[in-house]
Amino acid sequence: MRTSGRWTAPAGRRPDPVTAGYGDGTMTAPAPWERAARGAMLLDDHGRLATTIFAEMSALAARTGAVNLGQGFPDEDGPAEVLAAAHAAIDAGLNQYPPGRGTPGLLDAVAEHQRRFYGIELDPAREVLVTAGATEALAATLLALVDDGDEVVTLEPFYDAYGALVGLAGGTHVTVRLHGPDFRVDHGELRAAFSDRTRVVVVNDPHNPTGTVLDDATRRLVVELARLHDAVIVTDEVYEHLLFDGARHVPISTLPGAAERTITVSSGGKTFATTGWKVGWLSGPEELVSRVLTVKQYLTYVNASVFQPAIAVGLRLPDEYFSQLAAGLQAKRDLLSAGLEAAGFAVSPSHGSYFVVADAAPLGHHDAAELCRRLPELAGVVGVPLSAFCRDGGAPGTSSLVRFAFCKKTEVLERAVEQLARLRA
Ligand SMILES: Cc1ncc(COP(=O)(O)O)c(C=O)c1O
Repeated sequence: MRTSGRWTAPAGRRPDPVTAGYGDGTMTAPAPWERAARGAMLLDDHGRLATTIFAEMSALAARTGAVNLGQGFPDEDGPAEVLAAAHAAIDAGLNQYPPGRGTPGLLDAVAEHQRRFYGIELDPAREVLVTAGATEALAATLLALVDDGDEVVTLEPFYDAYGALVGLAGGTHVTVRLHGPDFRVDHGELRAAFSDRTRVVVVNDPHNPTGTVLDDATRRLVVELARLHDAVIVTDEVYEHLLFDGARHVPISTLPGAAERTITVSSGGKTFATTGWKVGWLSGPEELVSRVLTVKQYLTYVNASVFQPAIAVGLRLPDEYFSQLAAGLQAKRDLLSAGLEAAGFAVSPSHGSYFVVADAAPLGHHDAAELCRRLPELAGVVGVPLSAFCRDGGAPGTSSLVRFAFCKKTEVLERAVEQLARLRA
């Protein structure tokens, strides 16, 4: 799917500002909003704009009282120290614009965190930038680096913002499919996705929506290909602390030859159950960070003055906080995965993130989108079809896959499991 290309207006003619047409059937090139919508698969071939599947499914859950395992946000508060620090920051009067790169305390805490967990050395004043969530970090990075006709490689299924942002930037989105049931990358396909037009490769690891974690050989191949084609690697590591079965996260920037061309993105939302605070950050070589800052300062300029010091407190919590977070979520993964299996789904193993993918084909449901619309009535549960994260409906064999979120209270998951058992009955 090509989503970019230069377009020159016919000499001396102006399009109708509302219809974007010239009155003779010809149209202007797609507007930026249209490229964003198409990139996120929200615009069909007749130009109709759809709402996101997440909004549709959450509304369905609210209407029917079904357990909402569609959207990936926790239903419990994060650590008390972090919440208290935000209250204290308001009381201390930190209610005005913070510095453009972020509050020094958070910049330091990000650098300390990267050293503590991964041995990465960063200059907090030059190589770290605080953003309005990981989303703004990704937006500012892609808008800063991607020009018309540049290609951006991502895995597929992909977090919908990637498609929207690549479209907005005028780039061409090239995807590499993850192959089920364990969602692995085919190295031949990864090689084939790169060309000399590849400007950026976005790597989401651990991965939403599949819960897969990349293996070392795949990470190394990403670095090799990025070097070969002189591309920038952008990593989305928002689930970095949500790995299971004793696995440890490996940031791509720690691999040989990667640091000089990698922008590492993360945020506090998932790690501290504060998705509404939208405190994110990126780190990388000074030159790349400065380019992204140039765009970021005209998007939001700054945000979250009172939440930044609170997230700094979170990043400095003892190791036990992070290990218990992963262990608690692993137990929830096990609970939901077992319940889905018992209900008759074929469940793909989730190694990280908030999500597990289950195949409804063994239950006789081959269209996950249709099943998800009926699931509240059939089993009192809401999930999201994997096709919402794929272009053109996704790869063959994926149409019966559903993503479920397990970042919910244990009793909520127990209720979901109990209700899902009705599917088998
Ligand atoms: C892969 C991925 N990246 C980024 C985000 C957004 O992060 P933030 O809320 O920090 O903007 C999400 C949220 O669901 C996500 O799943």
